[in-house]
Amino acid sequence: MCGITGYIGNEEASPILIQTLKKLEYRGYDSAGIAVMRNGKIFVRKMKGRINSLEETLLENPLNGQSGIGHTRWATHGEPSDANSHPHTDSGGNIAIVHNGIIENYVKLKQSLQSRGVVFQSDTDTEVIVHIINYFYRSGEGALLQAVMETLKLLNGSYALAVVCSDYPDRIIAVRKDSPLIAGCGAAGSFIASDVPALLEYTRDVYFLNNGEIAVLYEDHIELRGNDGEVILRETARIDWDAGSAEKNNFPHFMLKEIFEQPKAMENALLPRLKKSALNNPVVDFDEIKLDESWAAARRIVIAACGTAYNAAVIGKYAFEHFARIPVAVDLASEYRYRNPIFDKRDIFIVISQSGETADTLAAARLMKQNGARVIAVTNAPGSTLSREADVVVYTYAGPEIAVASTKAFTSQMMCVYLLALELGRFRGHIADEPYKKYITALSAIPAQARRILDKKEIIQRFAARQYNKTKMFFMGRQFDYPVSMESALKLKEISYTHSEAFAAGELKHGPIALIDDGTLVIAFATQKELFEKMISNIREVSSRGASSLVITCDRVDSFNTITDEIFTLPKTEDCFSPLLSVIPAQLFSYYCAVQRGNDPDKPRNLAKSVTVE
Ligand code: M6R
Repeated sequence: MCGITGYIGNEEASPILIQTLKKLEYRGYDSAGIAVMRNGKIFVRKMKGRINSLEETLLENPLNGQSGIGHTRWATHGEPSDANSHPHTDSGGNIAIVHNGIIENYVKLKQSLQSRGVVFQSDTDTEVIVHIINYFYRSGEGALLQAVMETLKLLNGSYALAVVCSDYPDRIIAVRKDSPLIAGCGAAGSFIASDVPALLEYTRDVYFLNNGEIAVLYEDHIELRGNDGEVILRETARIDWDAGSAEKNNFPHFMLKEIFEQPKAMENALLPRLKKSALNNPVVDFDEIKLDESWAAARRIVIAACGTAYNAAVIGKYAFEHFARIPVAVDLASEYRYRNPIFDKRDIFIVISQSGETADTLAAARLMKQNGARVIAVTNAPGSTLSREADVVVYTYAGPEIAVASTKAFTSQMMCVYLLALELGRFRGHIADEPYKKYITALSAIPAQARRILDKKEIIQRFAARQYNKTKMFFMGRQFDYPVSMESALKLKEISYTHSEAFAAGELKHGPIALIDDGTLVIAFATQKELFEKMISNIREVSSRGASSLVITCDRVDSFNTITDEIFTLPKTEDCFSPLLSVIPAQLFSYYCAVQRGNDPDKPRNLAKSVTVE
C-alpha cells in the first residue's frame, strides 16, 4: 500500500516526482504529496485526492529544487486528509519523510514522544518516525544516517522510507524492511521508487534493496549500506521491460490494455517452456525446475496464495490432480500462516503471487521455509521479495500489471500451473504420448484463440450496457468452471462494486437458489462437456425464477438458446484448459460494468494493487 519515490539530480525534481508517482498510483490514491529541497530548506506540498490534483496545484504554484521525495497514499492509520498525507516533517520542518508500510508499535512511541513535548500534526503511524529521527539527530547522535539507523532499531512493523534533511541537501536516505523499494542511477540523477515501472523512463539499472539495507542517494551515485552502516558493494540488476508496457498506449484504461495483452502474456509464459524432444516432439521443460526423485516421491502439493492468485492456485489443484494424479491442498495464505499447517518433507510447496510482495503470501512462504520446505514461487515480479526468498522461481513473464484488478497475471499464472502439471503428469507416468501431444497442441493454440475472443468484445460490451444496473450478480460453473466463477465474481466486485458471488453450480439447490429473483443476473460457465446436461438444468432453474443470464460455452449453443438471454461462444479447446479462455469474457464484463457505472476500473475504491500489510 502506498507508493514512495525520490529523486536527486540535475533536473527539476517536482515534475519527476509527479511522473514517478503517477506510475505508482495503482498502489494507493487517496492523497499525495512531495517535499522538495532548495537553498537549504524543505518545501512540502501535500493534499487529499489524486496525484492529478497535486500536479495542478504545483503548476499554479511551483516548488523548485533538484531533489525531493514523493508519496501516493492508501490510508491505513488516519483518514485520507491533507494533514495525514505524506511527507511528514519534524516540528522545525528540517527533516521530511515518506513511508510505505505500517509501524505496529507507533502508539507507544507516540506516547513517549508526546511526554517529551512533541506535538503531532497527523493521526498517522508514520509521523512518529520523523520525530524520532529528529530526536536522535538533535541529541547529538551525529550524522543523519546514524540518526536514521538509531530510529530503525525502535520500529516494529514494515517500512520503505525516504528521508531528506535540510542540513544534507546533497543526499536522500532510503531504507526498507518488508516493503518493496528499488534504487537506480540514470543520466538525470539518482532515484528511488516502490516499483520498477516508476523508473523505466529514467533508468534500467537498479538495486533491489534487501531487508534492512540502506541506500544513500547522491546526484551521481548511490551508496548501499547494511543495517549497521557498513558499505555494501553490489552490481545493479538490468531491467529489460519495455517502457511502453507501463503506458496505457491508446487504451482508455490499463485494465482494458492488460486484458488485451493476455494472448501475448500467455505466449510469454508458454514459449520458453516448450522445447523439442530427441524425437523432435514438443515437450514441456522448465529450465527452473529439474524433476528428480523428490518429485517422483512427492505425496502432496501444497499451494498458498491470495485473491486472484489464490483462484489460479485452485485451477492448479484441478490441473495437478487431473494430469499428475497427486493430491493438492490449496490455502489462502492469510489462513495458512495462522492455522498450524502440517508439514511433510515429501510435499511440494508452491506459492503464487503477481507482485511477489503480498505480506500474507510472503509469510506463508517463510513459514514453509522455516519448516524445512523448498519453496517454489510463481511470480511476475523479478527482484521482488518473494523471488529473492524462494528456492525456485517460475516467472510468469506477463510484464508490468498496473491495473489494481489482476487480469493478465491470472491467465499467465494459470498457463504456468498447467505447464507444471503437464510436465509432472508425464514425469510421473500418468499421461501417455498421444494425449500429451494433444494437450501441448491445445495449449499452443490458446493465445490465438484468446485473440479471437477479444475480437468479439462488443458482444460483452453490449450485454454489460444492458445489465450493469443489476444489484446481484452470480457466477456458477462446475469442475474447471468453478474457479473461473470465483475469479469472475472477485473481478466484478472489485471494480463495479456490485454484490457478486460465485458458487459451484451443484451447490445451487443447497442454498444460493434462495437468492435468485428477477433482479439477479447469473453468468454460467458451461465448458465441461460431461457436465453440459447438469449446467442446462442449473440455468433452467435460475431462468425460471426470473433471473437474467449469460452462458459462456464452447459447444451445444442450441441447447442454451431458449433458456438464456445471451450466449458467448468460446473457441474449442480441451475442457481442462477452458479457464484460459472463459475468464476473458468475464473480465471484459466486469470492465464494461465498471465503466457503465462511472467507476475508474484502474483505481477501484479502497483497494491497492499490492497488499504489503496484513
Ligand atoms: O500480488 P499478488 O498476486 O500476491 O496479489 C494477491 C491479491 O492481492 C490480488 O490478486 C488481488 O486480489 C487483486 N486485486 C485481484 O484483482
